[in-house]
Amino acid sequence: MHRYPFTNSIWRQHDTGTPYPSLSVSESTEVVVIGAGIAGLVCAYELQKRGRQVTLLEALEIGHGTTGHTTAKCSVQHGTIYHKLIRHFDESIARLYYEFNSEALVYLKNQIEEGFDCDYANEQSFLYSREPNEELTKELDAYRRLKIDGGEATEEVRKALPFSIEQALVIHDQAQFHPVKYLRELANRFVQHGGKIYENSRATEVSQGPRPVVTTSTGRRVQGNQVVIATHYPFNDLRGLYVSKFSVERSYIVACESGSRPLKGMYLEVGERKRSFRSYEENGKTYLLVGGEGHTAGQVTDTRSRYDRLEHDAQAHFETNRASYRWSSQDLITLDGLPYVGQMFKREPDLFVATGFSKWGMTNGIAAGTLLADQLTGRPNRFVNLVSPLRQTVKSSDISAFLKTNLDTATQFAKGTVDRLLERKNVKDLQLDESGVVQVDGKTSGVYRDLDNQCHVVNLTCTHLGCTVKWNNAERSWDCPCHGSRFDAKGNVLEGPATKPLSYSKREDL
Ligand code: FES
Repeated sequence: MHRYPFTNSIWRQHDTGTPYPSLSVSESTEVVVIGAGIAGLVCAYELQKRGRQVTLLEALEIGHGTTGHTTAKCSVQHGTIYHKLIRHFDESIARLYYEFNSEALVYLKNQIEEGFDCDYANEQSFLYSREPNEELTKELDAYRRLKIDGGEATEEVRKALPFSIEQALVIHDQAQFHPVKYLRELANRFVQHGGKIYENSRATEVSQGPRPVVTTSTGRRVQGNQVVIATHYPFNDLRGLYVSKFSVERSYIVACESGSRPLKGMYLEVGERKRSFRSYEENGKTYLLVGGEGHTAGQVTDTRSRYDRLEHDAQAHFETNRASYRWSSQDLITLDGLPYVGQMFKREPDLFVATGFSKWGMTNGIAAGTLLADQLTGRPNRFVNLVSPLRQTVKSSDISAFLKTNLDTATQFAKGTVDRLLERKNVKDLQLDESGVVQVDGKTSGVYRDLDNQCHVVNLTCTHLGCTVKWNNAERSWDCPCHGSRFDAKGNVLEGPATKPLSYSKREDL
């Protein structure tokens, strides 16, 4: 039987960082930061450096979340965002977004000069298309209007990539790095400044009012003057103000060992395929990282074929071996293209959030972390209004995107019930390493038969808001099509907004 490899991010593979304890005793602090991804760690590190006492809670381990599952391009070239921001807002907002992210890149470069060790490399960032593409023409015009340090680069990309290129743009002096090494540097330095980190400590609740209390899944508490939610998807959105503002997209990356010289530059395709390329060198080996194959989260079961197509593309165009690493990431796309960073709810002045980085979490995450540190320490920051979660800049296009997002969710909610009936299999027909919707003890359940012939039975109802989860056959996870929560085969939460596991039992008699 062909056993499909388990997924593993190249960034997490050789992570030998310090494990941190879990929270075993309740405590009090000045600031509680929830989420040890790039935004949470930059924020926590900056606050601690400025003399605040910070406690950082991470649901799993450092680097386990979105930051450890990206292509790790640190670039302000965010697809074709600039002409869209000009169209949606105006030139001043588009330019401000460019500066918000450019300053994050400068912040990172300064850290490299201070000695941060994270395989940092200066690179050019390119957008390209294989067919004529109006988006790129508009984006080039936006670069000129916003005085972005870049422009036309078609000939350059034609020389660099081994397939035909119709048009290409560049932004100069960008960067790529190793995201988990970067997180480890931040964590080490944060702790050296007196900060506290607790891993495997999932926050499940944040109280309202002054001196908010964060409660974890084990019932421990941390009380702070202020709380920052940097958990990718804000898990504490009980009023549902955020769930309707995002669409959730999943995309895939493979790293294939390559016999040719490393690719110079970072590349992203504009158009249908949206392939992304960069190289990474480690222990004398060169890997080509190929990304793409995105789709709305939770709506695809056969995710293996997505990896296979990326691997095929790498082998078809570059001298690469089979993929050594495969991993995926999940992105929150906001209605207006700008992230939400700042005070989370109008009536809760002590609760802050950083989320909605779309596919551009490296620079947006750093920018969010420094902005929140400024806000919490009373320093002026000129980007506060740009990314405020309380911004009132609703446009008709936002409303139609809002309606579509909510209609999609409602459709998935209803469809889940039908799917449960239609997709039912006989449990005896499940092969090793296969999953299905089956009847177990008279109840429709999700069952995964593992490689040791053990059956893992879960309730298919997502613990967030009740949609029906679907199997993801490459990650061996149950994914929710409504807001992107993910659960492992035993029902444990892999990604929020859900905070509670699916009900689970192990069965050897099926
Ligand atoms: Fe919201 Fe599942 S993530 S219902």
